[in-house]
Amino acid sequence: MDFGAVLFLLLVACISYMIVMYGKMLQKRGQLPPGPMPLPIIGNLLQVNTDNIAKSLIAMSKKYGPVFTIHLGSKPNLVLCGYETVKEALIDKAEQFGGRGRFPVFLNFTKGNEMAFSNGEKWKERRIFVVQTMRSFGVGNRSTEEQIQEEAHFLIRELRKTSQLPFDPTLIFSCCVANVICSILFGSRFDYEDKTLQTIVSTTNENFHLISSFWGTMYNIYPEIMDYLPGPHKKIFANHEALRVILQDVVKAHQETLDPDSPRDFIDAFLIKMEKEKNNPTTHYFTESVIMTMHTLINAGTDTIITTLRYGFLILMKYPEMAEKMQEEINQVIGQDRPPAMEDRKKMPYTDAVIQEIQRFASIVPLALPHLVMQDTQLNGYKIPKDTTVIPVLASVHHDPAHYEKPEVFDPRNFLKENGCIKKNDALMIFGAGKRICPGENLARMEIFLFFTILLQNFTFQPLGSREDINLTPTGGNLGNLPQPYQCCAIPR
Ligand code: HEM
Repeated sequence: MDFGAVLFLLLVACISYMIVMYGKMLQKRGQLPPGPMPLPIIGNLLQVNTDNIAKSLIAMSKKYGPVFTIHLGSKPNLVLCGYETVKEALIDKAEQFGGRGRFPVFLNFTKGNEMAFSNGEKWKERRIFVVQTMRSFGVGNRSTEEQIQEEAHFLIRELRKTSQLPFDPTLIFSCCVANVICSILFGSRFDYEDKTLQTIVSTTNENFHLISSFWGTMYNIYPEIMDYLPGPHKKIFANHEALRVILQDVVKAHQETLDPDSPRDFIDAFLIKMEKEKNNPTTHYFTESVIMTMHTLINAGTDTIITTLRYGFLILMKYPEMAEKMQEEINQVIGQDRPPAMEDRKKMPYTDAVIQEIQRFASIVPLALPHLVMQDTQLNGYKIPKDTTVIPVLASVHHDPAHYEKPEVFDPRNFLKENGCIKKNDALMIFGAGKRICPGENLARMEIFLFFTILLQNFTFQPLGSREDINLTPTGGNLGNLPQPYQCCAIPR
């Protein structure tokens, strides 16, 4: 057979394969709620802005309603938009919608040996263990509060060193936030110049950017192909590995010095559990799972908080009158002689409202993490089959016009009553909702309140240009909504 004939047969085989696959895709589509017509292989990618998927999905929901199907590549995803729909799925039908969908940028590295990207009994048991162990080492109570206050003290010292000159706050905020989670997990903090801390911070920061970018999105859609292609996505796995090496050494050092009667930190608690379960053939506790659990907690617990702080201070520089009002409240309730404490929050409704509005407006995890339907169910009158991947668009909850009068405008009155007291708004789901709600919520709330207030107690942040030029449009918009990069000056008060 000549070369031309071989080529022709190959072409016929490829086209036939594509037709069969496309047929299957359309058949599956017929079982799900309607949505835009997908093309073979790429699905609806041409209709989605891959630099800001959340925005595209919110726009589409105006045409297709709050529940619709979109194909990212050839795989269908059920999209949920608006408070009522997201609540019905994640909270009212928590059991049915409580699985975790595939997220290859993490899953292909962790292999599910942790809690965020696993399902079933393994996930349930690990989640209970992580939450209980973090609590037993002080997360959510006074001892973590003291740790954060102490870390804030180092942060202030670093900021004073900038001598009112322009700087990018990312690195300083990162060191401080990473130190809090490291103290909880390993029982130790690092100097800001320490090489290990620098690696932790640079790898997680870079990954949050890469995973939130076009390349991270493409990897999540086509992991089997992207594994063979060069590109920035390769750096995601190099960064994962660099963090893994550090954690492996930390675990080894803990194993060598472990006293089972006196656990020092999260790792020790995990190692003790591992020892207790060593004869259980189906145990979920082994060396790889302690490393990957910490890997996940560090990734989840640093850049989310750093991004909230970075976005928040950019917003406050655009609206300095709001920052001033927060500082007045800090003066009245706390003064200058002691650091802010969590107790102060209930006496500081304005500050509390501004922080909640920052979280709503920035929606830093706009699509949550993908969920998975665990059993056949119904939603908005549609049958939803088991194993459907679900994208709960948290940003759409935060921009739901039924709950926010002008969702596009930054306005702390969204969380304030006429009389100045705090107003609860259920349509705020920055930590997700239901079975998969963020287990770091209490820690995050504490860090965010304390870091914002301690920084404003000590500094006024000034932009380099005029406030009118500050652009609050996010970059990224997939895993994370990131603020535009910026520099500022920290002026001591
Ligand atoms: C501002 C800070 C934070 C935000 C906005 C945030 C947001 C989220 C969101 C939206 C999810 C997905 C929820 C879902 O699937 O429905 C999540 C999951 C998760 N977060 Fe956070 N998070 C923050 C801080 C933290 C911290 C400090 C930690 C750890 C100490 C943490 C650990 C996790 C873990 C382990 C999961 C996976 C939970 C599971 O699958 O069961 N997060 N977070």
